[in-house]
Amino acid sequence: MAKTYKIGIIRGDGIGPEIVTEALKVLDKVGSVCDINFEYKEMLLGGAAIDATGVPFPDETKKGVDSCDAVLFGAIGGPKWDNLERRLRPESGLLALRAHMGTFANLRPAVVYDELVNASTLKPEVVKGVDIMVVRELIGGIYFGQPREYLKDHSYNTMIYTRAEVTRIAKVAFEIAMKRDKRVCSVDKANVLEVSQFWRDVVIEVAKEYPEVELSHMYVDNAAMQLIRNPKQFDVILTGNIFGDILSDAASMLSGSIGLLPSASTGEGVGLYEPIHGSAPDIAGQGIANPLATISSAAMMLKYALGEMEASSKIDHAIKQALKDGYRTGDIGAYDAKTICNCSQMGDVIVSYIK
Ligand code: IPM
Ligand code: MN
Repeated sequence: MAKTYKIGIIRGDGIGPEIVTEALKVLDKVGSVCDINFEYKEMLLGGAAIDATGVPFPDETKKGVDSCDAVLFGAIGGPKWDNLERRLRPESGLLALRAHMGTFANLRPAVVYDELVNASTLKPEVVKGVDIMVVRELIGGIYFGQPREYLKDHSYNTMIYTRAEVTRIAKVAFEIAMKRDKRVCSVDKANVLEVSQFWRDVVIEVAKEYPEVELSHMYVDNAAMQLIRNPKQFDVILTGNIFGDILSDAASMLSGSIGLLPSASTGEGVGLYEPIHGSAPDIAGQGIANPLATISSAAMMLKYALGEMEASSKIDHAIKQALKDGYRTGDIGAYDAKTICNCSQMGDVIVSYIK
């Protein structure tokens, strides 16, 4: 009998609705091929939620995500909501959702497809073969630290990590490294920040449980440089919330477009799967966004949340095959393209490659 999974769907704002539509097409196809049923539960978050309910993270969404097996998310935010007070902004909704779901581990793979080595702004020989997993702590650090305040003549945030928070994210990074090239580079700013020195000390403690994994440390400024200079030196990058936010954007450019990179946010409960890019208000509604990051996030969802390895790799293969055969959306259209697709055409192409 076919298995049924309940998937929370949060389309969000900007290009969010368009790219999620394509991911659902692909899920339905892979479901029919692999005999899996998906039951979708649509929920509001961000600007769309503000417009409908007045708040970015409505109670209904809070309750909704708890009853799902996994949540697939598009993107949130846009100029329309930029002037709202901070707690009512779309971004606050996303942060509150992540905190509510307890998704402390954000996995952001930066993989360069061979077919797209020319799409990067860096030289092909620098990026060919890059395969990095950024493990970003997602519900702590300066994003959430208290106290925080905006005042007239000064303002502040607090960067804080507890031993428990660093330990659990470090374990995730080491476990992942065990299944990869067994190297973890922990990124911090221990030459300046106490919280980073603490981070480093705790990571060293955790590393003792993983003698097979080679641990190195790097200051975040140097890591930014090394990612551009010689990205192939990295296997797993372990870092805190804000450094991970910044470094994952930088790492995405190795692949040629931020429109390609997926992410998985996991914790103890239900996981959240989202592209690493934003809502791209400049191209929203034009139907030209690249849906591959979201489609790829759906593949991560099948793998990490549902254990549906075959279905997941069918999607990965379809993406590779489509790129190999020269299908490109506009963001990567200048490189070895045979057919330029809009968002929905790219979804159809991926669907057609799933057998
Ligand atoms: C990301 C985004 C978010 C973050 C924003 C939208 C709150 O940039 O997922 O990387 O900073 O975490
Ligand atoms: Mn970001």
